[in-house]
Amino acid sequence: MDIGADNPIEREPKGHTMSEQNTAVSVVGLGPMGQTMVRAFLAAGIEVTVWNRSSEKVDAMVALGAKRAATVADALDANAVTVLSLTHYAAMYDVLGQATDHLPGKVIANLSSDSPEKARKGAEWVRSHGAEFISGGVMSAGDNIAHPASYIFYSGPKEVFDAHAELLRPLSPQEYLGADDGLAQVFYQALLTIFHPWLLAFDQATAVIERSGHSIAQFIPFAVRSNAAFPYFMETHSVANQNGGWASLASLKMMDAGAQHIIDASEEVGVDSTLSHTAQAFWRRAVAASEEQGRAVSTYALMLGDRP
Ligand SMILES: NC(=O)c1ccc[n+]([C@@H]2O[C@H](COP(=O)([O-])OP(=O)(O)OC[C@H]3O[C@@H](n4cnc5c(N)ncnc54)[C@H](OP(=O)(O)O)[C@@H]3O)[C@@H](O)[C@H]2O)c1
Repeated sequence: MDIGADNPIEREPKGHTMSEQNTAVSVVGLGPMGQTMVRAFLAAGIEVTVWNRSSEKVDAMVALGAKRAATVADALDANAVTVLSLTHYAAMYDVLGQATDHLPGKVIANLSSDSPEKARKGAEWVRSHGAEFISGGVMSAGDNIAHPASYIFYSGPKEVFDAHAELLRPLSPQEYLGADDGLAQVFYQALLTIFHPWLLAFDQATAVIERSGHSIAQFIPFAVRSNAAFPYFMETHSVANQNGGWASLASLKMMDAGAQHIIDASEEVGVDSTLSHTAQAFWRRAVAASEEQGRAVSTYALMLGDRP
């Protein structure tokens, strides 16, 4: 690929027409998610230029029809918009730091995960080098961005999102949240806060089934059936939490006893119960705080770090 002094796009850093903007994009970072994004863009008929730190992943994408950028600067020069799909924001500095003089007039859509504060600082850094910035949190079912439950949170300047929403649409349905550069990561990390313990709890539950000599396949329909109650719990708990959280001493003690039953069921068959001990520690802290304060203290209040 020849992107150099004679590249017409490079001669006009701000001169991309609307149609160019919506038919070509650069993708930097080709882990499982970046590769999925490249495939989605290509399937939508969008021309994709790719760069990755390790080149074998670039080869795989070029074989699918993407264009190779030899350097980060080439990837930035090739298109108005560059999508970053990196492990974290620290990687953005490593990557874009190689070509900061190619940032002016460009648009960076960083769809990598990190904390809200790191996203805000990253946005500031990109803008300090003359590019526009939006951040995204890819709320996908694993790396399956085509799954009906997959979507992407976006935040940052509305006009930047609006100008490039059409180009980014093949990635997943879009949920623009607001101007705060950290907002996409606030919502994304909050959802992952639910997902991580769920994943570990699922491992623990299925390990108990297996170590008890039973079939995981027999168990799963019941797990799916019972998990259908989660939206109901979310609804009732969200009302409670908007009102400071709900607890009664009796229910906290019942949850403590319940946690002990789960721990016993796991440990009787040699399954790791660390997660359940952590849950039990919360119930016990809430019981202790309630007894100390003479009123029910919810685990939500403990999470908030409220002090009497
Ligand atoms: N995979 C999923 O299911 C999923 C779902 C939702 C959201 N996400 C988020 O999407 C982002 C990308 O996901 P992923 O699974 O593709 O992540 P990944 O496997 O960690 O790979 C991301 C890319 O980051 C690059 N990278 C990491 N550190 C770098 C550095 N210091 N300098 C240059 N390049 C660096 C890697 O380059 P090399 O190839 O050279 O190592 C790789 O191309 C992450 O923030 C992830 O949390 C992922």
